[in-house]
Amino acid sequence: MQIKSAEFVISNTDVTKCPKDNIHEYAFIGRSNVGKSSLINMLTNRKNLAKTSGRPGKTQLINHFKINNNWFLVDLPGYGYAQISKSKRQSFQKFITEYFLKRQQLVCTFVLVDSRHEPQKIDVEFIQFLGENEIPFCIIFTKSDKLNSSKLNQNLQNYETELLKTWEEMPQYFVTSATTKSGQEELLNFIHGINQNLELK
Ligand code: GTP
Ligand code: MG
Repeated sequence: MQIKSAEFVISNTDVTKCPKDNIHEYAFIGRSNVGKSSLINMLTNRKNLAKTSGRPGKTQLINHFKINNNWFLVDLPGYGYAQISKSKRQSFQKFITEYFLKRQQLVCTFVLVDSRHEPQKIDVEFIQFLGENEIPFCIIFTKSDKLNSSKLNQNLQNYETELLKTWEEMPQYFVTSATTKSGQEELLNFIHGINQNLELK
């Protein structure tokens, strides 16, 4: 799929104020600094569409980006960032949860996890939350440029072992790098497939 246009539409903290357009959307969620905003820029071939930072806690709102005038990518704040105040963390958690439970247009959520790390409790719990609420999702292992393929495979295997404790099968996943653009085509094809399928219905 070619990205012909990518525009920022609106930011807010209230799911009821998100765009009313009846078009499909894909959300990016995961721990702070995992690379959500960078992945949105990588997918759309834009440098600064979504704001990124080396310091965690950059994205603090629900951000809608309209792609090809036809569907949305949604950048969300990260969870699990300890360096912000408790009240802010609770407010993030509240509006993120509301977003996932109420947003009708959401067709797939990408849960980003850092491919360098062992499975983290907070990610596994978030995946559980999506499963319990029947919210379709895939996992994206980010920053794959930062480790060699044998370590990457080892970490993917560890993740699968962890998830198979509660899931019948490994959820669909992708491996990406915002630096090398690895995974871009697979992910865009995946989104394109869903968009086409939904248009046929
Ligand atoms: P918050 O908005 O704070 O929740 O973070 P985020 O998940 O949006 O992360 P962001 O995209 O801002 O990236 C965080 C840092 O990781 C930045 O310094 C990025 O340059 C870096 N980064 C993101 N993706 C990759 C990647 O695939 N490879 C490498 N090497 N660095 C990456
Ligand atoms: Mg961000």
